[in-house]
Amino acid sequence: MYTEILPIDEKSLRLAKKIIDGGGAVAFPTETVYGLGANAFDNKAVEDIFKIKGRPNDNPLIVHVHKDYDLTGLVSDIPEYAKALAKTYLPGPLTMVFKSSGRVCSSVSCGLDTLAVRVPSHSGAQQFLKCLDLPIAAPSANVSKHVSPVTAEHVYADLKGRIELILDGGKCSGGIESTVLDCTGKKPQILRSGLITREMIEKVAGSCDEYVLKEGERVLSPGMKYKHYSPSCRTMLFSFCDKNKAVEEYNKNRAQNVNAYILCDEITAESINVNHILNLGKTGEQIASNLYEKLREGERCAELIIAIAPEKQDGVMKGVMNRLIKACGN
Ligand code: TXA
Ligand code: MG
Repeated sequence: MYTEILPIDEKSLRLAKKIIDGGGAVAFPTETVYGLGANAFDNKAVEDIFKIKGRPNDNPLIVHVHKDYDLTGLVSDIPEYAKALAKTYLPGPLTMVFKSSGRVCSSVSCGLDTLAVRVPSHSGAQQFLKCLDLPIAAPSANVSKHVSPVTAEHVYADLKGRIELILDGGKCSGGIESTVLDCTGKKPQILRSGLITREMIEKVAGSCDEYVLKEGERVLSPGMKYKHYSPSCRTMLFSFCDKNKAVEEYNKNRAQNVNAYILCDEITAESINVNHILNLGKTGEQIASNLYEKLREGERCAELIIAIAPEKQDGVMKGVMNRLIKACGN
């Protein structure tokens, strides 16, 4: 299959609609990462998404809709706090999990009685969703477990020959996936941290829980149990206070002719004397935005990525740390 990358305009959107209506999948940009979308009412199209990505079939998908789409047909029991959060943060990088009304096909939620919904703010995503006027089931557009894509070229590198069309909307500004928030309880509960932080949720909803997986417990968000976001080269992760050990490891590997790189934020980069650095930038937002691009750059140029965790781990950095641990942890 020939894979085309096209800018988002009337012509490419017409082609996208033809593919989706015919039961196929199209990659499209969002403000977080690129998604691989299919019609959420079409069971076969959704099942194909799992096959294209090599995704385990117990890891449910998020349904994406445009900002004027009436969600009440898809989900029920929307609590007041969720309405307030939606009013404040949507369109944007917040996915909300509600009780499903059972209208979208069961393979989207992998048999769960809930449905995750998201209204992306990226203008290209909105154009794509508006032109289809359907709920679009979309995981990130990478091969399962690999680093999520933040450019059309990243999608191409993973899915070339497996899909017909990649809509190119430039580099995703957010850089890590949306916050997944369970809205089926009395209080919201964060299942996956992201760009909408706990502090931001608490400001609107009063309080909020954070899901921590305990030994032997059923996983609420199945995606959390998998190794994820991993570059194809070897990786190591050091905490900030062990940054000198990371540099020792780098020097040891370089001395043995191993092409090692240090992945760290700009302030750490300035404090160590190392030539080969994958620089994530300064602020939490910059670091989130650059993380996947630098991990992909790393797997192209390095044999070993030695990551040093940033010193501050609050706000957006919580989501970054979660991805870093899954990408570079043991
Ligand atoms: O930013 C994003 O969320 C991106 C873009 C493309 O929108 N999408 C994304 O999808 O990250 P994916 O499939 O890579 O991750 C979906 C996450 C998984 O952790 C999955 O377990 C969780 O959402 N999820 C989906 N449906 C769920 C449900 N009904 N209940 C609990 N967790 C759910
Ligand atoms: Mg993913």
